[in-house]
Parts: sequence; structure tokens; C-alpha cells
Amino acid sequence: MHFFNYKGNELYAEDLPVRLLAEKYGTPLYIYSYKTLLRHFRAYDEAYKSYPHVVCYAVKANTSRAVLRLLAKNGGGADIVSGGELFRAMNAGISPKKIVYAGVGKTEHEIRYALKAGIMMFNVESEQELLEIDRVASDMKVRAPIALRINPNIDPKTHPYISTGMKKNKFGIPIQNAIENYRLAAGLKNIEVVGIHKHIGSQITEVSPFVDALKRILVLLDELNSRQFNIRYLDIGGGLGIPYLDEKPPRPSELARNLLTLINKRKITLVMEPGRSIVGNAGILVTKTLYLKKGTGKNFIIVDAGMNDLMRPSLYDAYHHIIPVVKNRRAYIKADIVGPICESGDFLAKDRKIQNVNQGEYLSVMSAGAYGISMSSNYNSRPTAAEVMVNGKRHSIIRERGTYEDLIKDERVPSYLR
Ligand code: LLP
Repeated sequence: MHFFNYKGNELYAEDLPVRLLAEKYGTPLYIYSYKTLLRHFRAYDEAYKSYPHVVCYAVKANTSRAVLRLLAKNGGGADIVSGGELFRAMNAGISPKKIVYAGVGKTEHEIRYALKAGIMMFNVESEQELLEIDRVASDMKVRAPIALRINPNIDPKTHPYISTGMKKNKFGIPIQNAIENYRLAAGLKNIEVVGIHKHIGSQITEVSPFVDALKRILVLLDELNSRQFNIRYLDIGGGLGIPYLDEKPPRPSELARNLLTLINKRKITLVMEPGRSIVGNAGILVTKTLYLKKGTGKNFIIVDAGMNDLMRPSLYDAYHHIIPVVKNRRAYIKADIVGPICESGDFLAKDRKIQNVNQGEYLSVMSAGAYGISMSSNYNSRPTAAEVMVNGKRHSIIRERGTYEDLIKDERVPSYLR
């Protein structure tokens, strides 16, 4: 069950017709369902309730303040990858004690900021990073809590751009170097070893890669603890996929059952970092049909949302359902649904079977809540899309549509050009 459904001919977001929202707020428009977000977050919280755990939502999936605030209010933590994400998470009221910090390129400035905030732990991705955190912590006269992010060399069977736990990927410390790096960490005065972390990729639709990776991590965990390490946190990362087309990913509860069986009676606090599976299907992107054009042997539906608003189709060849906001009985055609950007790679769908649309009609791009607005840009000087949250019959703007002034507000012209 989800909260974007047709009632009669009209697509609804919870209890509101999407068409009315599009008319009121304009397009392109991201719409999120409060109830879906909450349900997805709780599904994780519920699934792991037999263990001490923290659900650290992966902020990068959708950084909007209202989304972060909703999760904060329900006890959520955050998985961050930059100082900017730390700022956003704390600004939304997420306790630093529930924040984990990954990423292969943390700067000194970011490390300082996170140490000052007092985060739960750094997920360290290299030996040099470990030494740098120790140096900064020593300078600040504090101890830095860390986990090592271990690359277990597991194929997550997903798109190569979003696989992260194979030896060819830049992420984490190779599992065969783990013990040596933990030893090094234990010898550093301003480092406190508290955890172990892995994250093997995104949009994973099977249980087995998660299970295989965890098995490898648990062998390491037991070995570490038998060598007098005191690993308190086991961070299993994120990566659970969602249905975009006809994928049948396991539910969080099914994944949890499999993982908890492996973890068994180990005394550990579990940390998980879901992003997409919380926000992905809680959001849609509504766009208006501008023009219809017949090319040579091709139909084009030209809409007002482009690759700058939703980059996933262009970047990963990702599939998103695209459906009419008001259903019709017209014949199906095959068309490329394209945006206004001056790039041939600017498409939302290619050779898509879709019921014929008329100029001015709205389409809804489904499953757009994750890595949609957060990866958007102002390319072609297009202002950022607006975002609305729907809760029952209530609708609230959570990001005003960008303006032309916004586009130039940070830019300066050298005095000799004035
Ligand atoms: N933890 C870490 C360390 C990560 O790097 C990521 C995602 C997550 C958690 C959350 O993964 P999720 O649960 O959302 O799968 N832009 C791509 C996805 C990139 C994922 C990057 N890392 C896309 O649109 O498919």
C-alpha cells in the first residue's frame, strides 16, 4: 500500500488531487507523502526492535529540511557524507550522538566540525584519513570515535555506478587490511575504536549480497573482539532497493530477519543507513506537457521537467514510471519523454509506451523522492523546482520554487568589468 493512488480518474497524493497541487504550486513540482515517509521509517525501526539500534537515514537521498525534521521527530539519526549534511542534520534537530559520517574525502575543516559537534562516529575509509582524524583530534584535545569502513569485496548486483563494496570501488578499507588498520587505530592516542562499518551499494534487490557481506564482517568482528577490541557499533549501511518497474526487493523486515539471525546473540548496537527505501517511493515529480512533436519515426513528449530536476534517467539510464495525473482513454503511443535542456541526454524516458497526452496536461514521474531534488542542478539556468509535503488533506510548501534572482545571488563581477 502506498499513498499515491488513483481515485476515479485522478491521481491523489494522500487525500489531495495531484492536479490541484500542480495548479496551485506550478511545475516541475516534487510532492512527498508524509504518511509514506513515516511508514517507511517505522518499518526499519520495527524490524530491528529486538536489538539496540539507530536508524541513521542517509541524508544524501533527500536533504530537504522538512523530511529531515520528520525523521528527527521520530527518533531518526543521520548518515552524512559532508559538513553540509552535518549542518542540515543538526539544523533539523537530529542529535549528533545519532550521526555517522562516511565518505572518502573528509577535509580537515569537516573533521573539526564533526568533532566539535560530537558525532557518534566517523566511518573511516583509509589509513591516511585515520591519521588525519587523529591529528585533528589531538589538536583539539579530544578523542575521535571511529569505525573502519570495510570493503568486503561483494558484488551487490546493481548498476555499476552505485556499487561500492567491490575491490575495484574507491570505498572502504580492503577487508584483508582490516586487522592491520584496526591495530594502527588502537595505537593512536586520540582515536577511540568503537565500530565497524560496511555499505556495499544501492538499489540492491536481493537478500544474498547483504547476507554474504555481513558474514564476512562478522568474522572480522569476532576476531577483533577476541583481540581485546571493544566494538560497540555494527553499522550495516544502507542500500535496500525499491520497486521502480517490477523489482521485488525484500521488505526491511525480511532483510532484518535474515541479518539478525546471523548477528544472533552478539552484544552490539546496530546502525543502519537506509536512504532510498525511506524516501524513494514517498515522492513524485509532477511535470507539465509543453509540446508534442513528431520526429522522423519518433514521437517526443516535451515536458517542463528536465535532467536538471531529475538526473537519474540520464545518468544511470534509470527507469521511472510516468503516468497521467488525470487518466484518459486515449490510445497508447510510443514516445521519448524529454525535458527542455539542450542536451540529447536530457530525457525522463525513452521509447516509452504511454497513453497519448495533450498539450498542457500533467504527468507524474513516480518513485522520484530519492536522489531527485538532492541531485538536481540549475543547469541551463533553470531555477530549482518547488517541493510540497502532503499529510492527509494538508499541503505545505517545503521548498519555494527558485527564482531568477537566486540564480545569480552568489555571483560577483570583478571591479574592472563593472
Ligand atoms: N550509506 C552510505 C555510506 C552511502 O554511500 C549510501 C548511498 C547510503 C548509505 C544510502 O544508500 P541507499 O539506502 O539510498 O541505497 N544517486 C544514486 C544512488 C547513490 C547512492 C550513494 N550512496 C541513484 O540515484 O541511484
